[in-house]
Amino acid sequence: MEKEKSSQSLINSDFADVMFNRHSVRVFKPGVTIPREELQEMISQATTAPSACNLQSWHFVVLDTPEAKEKVKPAVMKFNYPQLDTASAVVFIVGDTKSHEVYRKVWTKVYEEGHITKERLEQIFQTFLPLYENASKEFLTLDATIDSAMVGMQLLLLARAHGYEANPLSGYDFAKIIPALDLDPERFVPVMAIAIGKSDETPIKTQRYDAKTLTEFR
Ligand SMILES: Cc1cc2nc3c(=O)[nH]c(=O)nc-3n(C[C@H](O)[C@H](O)[C@H](O)COP(=O)(O)O)c2cc1C
Repeated sequence: MEKEKSSQSLINSDFADVMFNRHSVRVFKPGVTIPREELQEMISQATTAPSACNLQSWHFVVLDTPEAKEKVKPAVMKFNYPQLDTASAVVFIVGDTKSHEVYRKVWTKVYEEGHITKERLEQIFQTFLPLYENASKEFLTLDATIDSAMVGMQLLLLARAHGYEANPLSGYDFAKIIPALDLDPERFVPVMAIAIGKSDETPIKTQRYDAKTLTEFR
């Protein structure tokens, strides 16, 4: 297994601790730099997330300089300034509504590596490509949003596994954020940002509804 996708690069591979002791941290220690190589590694690891038809309709913009953060600030709601100002990096995850345009490549690789037959490859193309090529903008937006949320959850946990804390945030102007990130608003849709850094506060231990009251077995 590649080192990138093994537990070797994880400081904390105690799944229960990573998941159950995660809380949103919104104030981070100043002056902490996360090397871009490590940020890239966390993102690459997060992309092991499943996605609809394996379209992987996600895209990442990492803001780790004061200048880059300042540029998006006018589009971000004020209550999120502490995270924006203090995080070592804020990773904006946006949905890509044109991911199906490279769909052939990813599945052709699976075929070339011998994991599926030529017939299965053709069957995948015939089943799924028309679905996406003829899909409405609304469908593509929803699909890309769900995929991006899946990868976002993984990134939140990976931040902890790498010894950092994080906060997911979508409190920003959805109409302004994509242009503020210098992305094409016809193609990309806002989903969430993940602020990552070393914690400088004791996070609130939030409560959950009793899942038993929200669960139905049929
Ligand atoms: C989609 C989404 C959007 C969120 N947006 C914000 C936000 O804009 N600002 C913020 O401080 N927290 C935001 N949060 C964090 C939630 O407030 C937090 O996850 C929730 O209160 C539960 O707390 P916990 O993360 O500590 O378990 C967001 C979380 C999610 C999943």
